[in-house]
Formats: sequence, C-alpha cells, structure tokens
Amino acid sequence: MTHNAYPHLFGQTTLGSVPMRNRTCVAPMTRISATDDGVPTDIMVDHYQTYAKGGWGLVFTEGTYVDEAHAQGYVNQPGMANKDHAAGWRRVVDAVHAQNTPIFQQFIHAGGLIQHNRYEQTGIAPSRVDQLGQMMPHYFGEGPFPEPREITKDEMKEVASSFAAAARRAVDAGFDGVEIHGANGYLLDQFLTTFANVRTDEYGGSTENRIRFHCEVLAAVLNAVGSRIPVGIRISQTKVNNFDYQWPGKADDARIIFSALKAIGPTYIHVSTHKGLEEVWNSGRNLADWAKEIWGGPTIACGGLQDAARADLLIADGHADFCAIGKGALADPAWPEKILAGDEPIAFNPGMIKPHATLQNTLDWRAAN
Ligand SMILES: Cc1cc2nc3c(=O)[nH]c(=O)nc-3n(C[C@H](O)[C@H](O)[C@H](O)COP(=O)(O)O)c2cc1C
Repeated sequence: MTHNAYPHLFGQTTLGSVPMRNRTCVAPMTRISATDDGVPTDIMVDHYQTYAKGGWGLVFTEGTYVDEAHAQGYVNQPGMANKDHAAGWRRVVDAVHAQNTPIFQQFIHAGGLIQHNRYEQTGIAPSRVDQLGQMMPHYFGEGPFPEPREITKDEMKEVASSFAAAARRAVDAGFDGVEIHGANGYLLDQFLTTFANVRTDEYGGSTENRIRFHCEVLAAVLNAVGSRIPVGIRISQTKVNNFDYQWPGKADDARIIFSALKAIGPTYIHVSTHKGLEEVWNSGRNLADWAKEIWGGPTIACGGLQDAARADLLIADGHADFCAIGKGALADPAWPEKILAGDEPIAFNPGMIKPHATLQNTLDWRAAN
C-alpha cells in the first residue's frame, strides 16, 4: 500500500459507538434483488460482502420497506417487516461482519411513489395529489405513478410504529445502526415537500409543520432502539421524481429543519443530493455545510464525492464528518482500497444500474465484465 494521500478521509473514527476503519460509506442503493416477498437472497449476501471486502468504513443497505401495508415501492425490494425478512438480513449482516465492517440498515416507506407493492396497489401520501414524474424503467416501472390516497392520522401512527418495529428487528439481526429515509421524495420527504403536501392541519403549511412527521418517526425509532445502536436520518432537497426541487424557504428552511431534527436527537444526519453536493441558494455553501453548522453533530455528506481529493477536503475543512458514495461504489466496490493504493477505480456508467433484479441478470453482467 502506498502513502495515504487522503488522511482525513482514511483516518480511523467512530460513528456513535461504532468503530470505523475510515470515513467512507457505501451510500444506500436499491438493487431490487430480494425474493418476490422481500427476503434477502444469496446474491444480496454476496453483493454486500463485496463492499465489505473493498475497504469501506461503513456499508448502508438499500432502502428496506418497513411494513406489509403500503411501504414497499419497488418489485423485489427487500423488507424488514417480518421474521423471514429479518432472518434473511441476518445472513447479510454476518457476511459483512466477517470482513470486520459495520453495516447500517436504511428504512423506507414509499408513500405515493409506488411502482410495485405486493400488498396494496394504492399508495398513501400526505395529500391526494398527482405524483410528479414517471415510474423508473430500470426498476421495471412505466408511466405515471398511481394517484395515492391521503394517509389518515391513525395510519401515520402505524407508520411510525412500523419504523420502530423494523428497527427492533434490525437490532436482533445484528445491524450496527439504522437510518430513516427522510429524503428523495418518499413518504417522509413528501410531507416536507410543498408540491406533495397541501394539507391544512398541523402537518402542512409551515416548514415547522412539514418536518413534524420526520420528527415523530425519528422519536419512535430512537425510543425503540436508540439506547442500543446509532439512529440517523437522511435528508435531501432533490427527489427521484424531481432533481431540481429546492426548499422554498432556502436557508430559513434549513434552520427550521435541522433544528427540529436536532431537538429529537439523532446520532447523525445524512445529507444527500442527486446532482452532486454543490452550493445551494447562492449561499457559498452546500447542504452538508448547512446541516453541520445548524445541527452541529455527526454529518454524512453524499453526492458526487467519488473524487477522493474533494471528499478529503470536505472532511478536512469540517464541512462533513463522513462521505457516502453511491454510483462510484456501484461502479467499483473496491473504491477505498484502490484509492489507498493509488490505483484508478472503475468509473461509473449508467449501464451499471440495470443488472440487478434477478440472479441471472447479475451472473450475465459479471460474465460480461
Ligand atoms: C441505483 C441507485 C439506487 C439508489 N437507492 C437509494 C436508496 O435505496 N436509498 C437512498 O437513500 N438513496 C438511494 N440512492 C441515492 C444514493 O444513495 C445517492 O444519494 C445518490 O446516488 C448521489 O450520490 P452519488 O453521486 O455518490 O451517486 C440510489 C442511487 C442509485 C444510483
């Protein structure tokens, strides 16, 4: 191994109580490779273990649905909604731990962005409005999303309980931490988003109201498992169905959102963007900067950070504590080892998103690569 050119990125550290060999994380990435009923497969065991062998400090799972009511969004998405799911994930966890690497599980509720749900075909969302954008063909969706119905307040309580129950299963399955997916346009983020939330009650209107459901879910999960493992939450402006959305109140919204989450007390906040972590609102700072300054605790930044020099500088300058890498990790699961060795990692190309879903797809892809 050559001299470590990026000492800030590759220094040993901890996240909460979890030791990490460095500050690189595999970002959560949906791979739709579970069984039809959401149980992790051999291919997923292999997939996650490959990252663990590649030298990452922490591996995030893909977004995993939390209940059998409405949470699933994609065909062959994995769940953490029952004991079969948990038993399947135990195998993934053991494989990653065998490489001395921690693994956190990300929990998702699709809300209105349902492309496939084996339990119920109608999505539930803050408001009964058309969802922007189209279903994603690479996850076998086509055309507009079905119109959701408005979630009831009882269902909101059930959703928070489902996140908490999934988190308890995650602890039992050996996960080192859990993350609530509060970003990217799914249920929680729909509450935060003005075009998806036209409610007039205490969950709509002001930014304080629109971040309320995030806080309730976070509190439920912290209450369930917070004394045992780290609990984080992911936040973004951009969405899978709108890469351009910005919080209308800009920095004022950032202050309200990150202060509200801080008051609940997560272990960390994970800030992501689909367009690369760039300056927001002509403020001279990116969203991770804003999070770090307002909330002040451990902050994971994600978006275009496969440039190791940039990631190292971000940490050196105190703008983030950890860097999560999505497409760069997909392209080269050994990205950290290659960077440390001074080798060039394999670059991402869009064709790499597609080979997932079935064992045969992945085997074909491996044979061709
Ligand atoms: C194939 C794919 C699947 C993704 N699935 C998820 C997911 O399940 N949960 C999530 O929070 N973000 C998901 N993302 C977003 C990434 O975590 C990350 O925020 C985004 O790709 C930007 O980072 P990058 O520039 O390093 O790729 C996904 C991204 C890709 C490319």
